[in-house]
Amino acid sequence: KELNVAIVGATGAVGSKILEKLVARKFPAKSIKMLASKRSAGTEIVVDGQKYIVEETVPESFEGVDIAFFSAGGSISKKFASEAVKRGAVVIDNTSAFRMDEGIPLVVPEVNPHELKNHKGIIANPNCSTIQMVTALHAVKEKFGINRIIVSTYQAVSGAGAEAIHELGTQSLQFEERADIEAEILPSASASKHYPIAFNAIPQIDLFDESGYTLEELKMMNETKKIFSDDKIAVTATCVRLPVVTGHSESVYIEVDSEDVTVEAIRAAMATTTGVVVQDDPSSQSYPMPLYAEGKDEVFVGRIRKDPAHPSGFHMWIVADNLLKGAALNSVQIAEELIK
Ligand code: A2P
Repeated sequence: KELNVAIVGATGAVGSKILEKLVARKFPAKSIKMLASKRSAGTEIVVDGQKYIVEETVPESFEGVDIAFFSAGGSISKKFASEAVKRGAVVIDNTSAFRMDEGIPLVVPEVNPHELKNHKGIIANPNCSTIQMVTALHAVKEKFGINRIIVSTYQAVSGAGAEAIHELGTQSLQFEERADIEAEILPSASASKHYPIAFNAIPQIDLFDESGYTLEELKMMNETKKIFSDDKIAVTATCVRLPVVTGHSESVYIEVDSEDVTVEAIRAAMATTTGVVVQDDPSSQSYPMPLYAEGKDEVFVGRIRKDPAHPSGFHMWIVADNLLKGAALNSVQIAEELIK
């Protein structure tokens, strides 16, 4: 069956990739409606020689739509997702609006596709940093059990949207011209203070919770438990923004359930997951880097090594394109899984 598809946030960093992925993967779409704010109504987007005209998002936009991808921020999802569902659409939501709601599946197709059958109209796409971590760790967890994860992230600016990419570019030019560096977007548009991202590292992504963790860190901690259906797994995150355009990197420490697991066994397990590539050869300086992960669908893992001080501890480095596996690709994979 051919489907009517809508993309809310179609002009954004993730929305534009959703369109590219739908076209490239030949998703059976009869029509693709490009929705954004009033500001960009009438804008033309051309992909693969096909022209799409952007329309303003209103409740009636969802008449006749079968699948609606949302990537325009949590407030827009809260405002329009129910309008889409009311009109018969299945919503695949990229924002954090519904992820932790009970009864809303939070899905990474390689890890928990079975959750999809429980949906009641809305399916949540996890946080970008969470997706690449659980995809890489899934097979290790299945085979050996994982009881603890400590992750530090090195996240790209594209995760904060098209305006953040522009800000990094502008600040780089200001630095080169020895002008004052102006910061307005990062670490978070709604934060009370802003800091330069160019030539910097900002240990704040999203706002702070009273616990001292940021909301991004809490997303990684809570979403990992939900996706793995494991309340007992101990997860702690530190999330840092770097002046990288696209591609999130993560230093991940895990403790597995048994003490006789080898690095080779961890590598072999990871390589069994579709879409996970083990790139791990120190002798040839082979390890994943965000610059080379950009534009790729896979999750790359390298630097896998045993902790010298803990018999079941392992360290590794996980990299993926945050706009693709971390967002647009995972959403399109959810849609593909739904129509199977
Ligand atoms: P617009 O380009 O019209 O502002 P990003 O994640 O790159 O920051 O992109 C955000 C996306 O959300 C853009 O496509 C943006 O459209 C869209 N958006 C912002 N505000 C609204 C709104 N009020 N209604 C619908 N889409 C919106």
